[in-house]
Amino acid sequence: MFDFKDRVLLVTGAGGGIGGATAAYFHACGARVMMADINEAAVVALARSLDPSAQQVRAQRYDASQSADAQALVQACLRAFGRLDFLVPAAAIYEDQLLRSMSDAQWEATMAVNLNGVFYLVRQAIAAMPAGSSIVTLASQSGHTGGSVEHGHYGATKGAIVSFTRTLARELGPAIRANAVSPGMIDTPMVARALAGKREEVIANTPLKRLGRPEEVASLIAFLCSDAASFITGEAILVTGGLFMGG
Ligand SMILES: NC(=O)c1ccc[n+]([C@@H]2O[C@H](COP(=O)([O-])OP(=O)(O)OC[C@H]3O[C@@H](n4cnc5c(N)ncnc54)[C@H](O)[C@@H]3O)[C@@H](O)[C@H]2O)c1
Repeated sequence: MFDFKDRVLLVTGAGGGIGGATAAYFHACGARVMMADINEAAVVALARSLDPSAQQVRAQRYDASQSADAQALVQACLRAFGRLDFLVPAAAIYEDQLLRSMSDAQWEATMAVNLNGVFYLVRQAIAAMPAGSSIVTLASQSGHTGGSVEHGHYGATKGAIVSFTRTLARELGPAIRANAVSPGMIDTPMVARALAGKREEVIANTPLKRLGRPEEVASLIAFLCSDAASFITGEAILVTGGLFMGG
C-alpha cells in the first residue's frame, strides 16, 4: 500500500473491472477519487460501496468518445476535490470482428473510445496536474504482440496508446511522469466473451496458471503513481502472469 493522502485520482472505465479495482486501491491508500463511466448505474454503485458519504469518492457519467465530456469531467473533479494528481483513462471497448468484414462504424467506434477518448481526457487534464503528478494509461499485451484475430481495431488502439504515452513522457517531463500498463488476461467482464471455450488453454499457457485479478493491475498502477516509481517514465509494463512469453 502507498500513502496517497491529500492526492486525487481521476479514473475512467471505473464501472468496470480494472477501473473499479483501481478506484478501490487508491481509496484504500487514502486518495480522493473521481470515478467516471458511461455505465452510470455501475459507477455510482461502486463509488457508494467504497464511500457511502461521497466525501472521498465521487462518480460521474462520462462518454469517452465525447470531447465535451472530458472537459466536463476534469472540471467536475476540480470542483469536487480542488486538484488532480493521478489520471488513469481505463475506459475501452473490446468488440469481436474480422477485419475483412468490419464496417467503418465498428472501426470508428473503437477508435473513438479507446484512442480519441484518451487524447481528449489527457489534453484536458494536463493543465490541471501539478508537478509530481502521474498519468497511467491502459495499453494491452495485444498492443505489443499485435495479431489478435477479430480484434484488429482494438489491438491498433492499444499499440497507439503505447506510442502516445511515450510522447506524453517526453512532452510532460520532468513535471509529470507518464507510463502505460499492458495487461494480459485479467478476469473482468471485458474478456469473458474472448475466454469462452479457451479459458483452460489460456491458463495452461500462463506460467502463473491462472487469470490475473483486477487488483493486480491496480497495484501496478498505484506503484507507477507513487514516489517508489520516481525515475520511471515512458515505460509500458506488462502484467500477464508470464503469458506474454508465449506457450
Ligand atoms: N481485462 C483484460 O484482460 C485487459 C487486458 C488488456 C487491457 N485491458 C484494458 O484495461 C482497461 C480496463 O478494462 P477492463 O478489463 O476493466 O474492462 P471492463 O469491460 O470491465 O471495463 C471497461 C469499462 O469501460 C466502460 N466504457 C465503455 N465504453 C465507454 C465510454 N464510451 N465511455 C466511458 N466508459 C466506457 C464500460 O462501461 C466498463 O465499465 C481497458 O482499457 C482495457 O482495454 C484489459
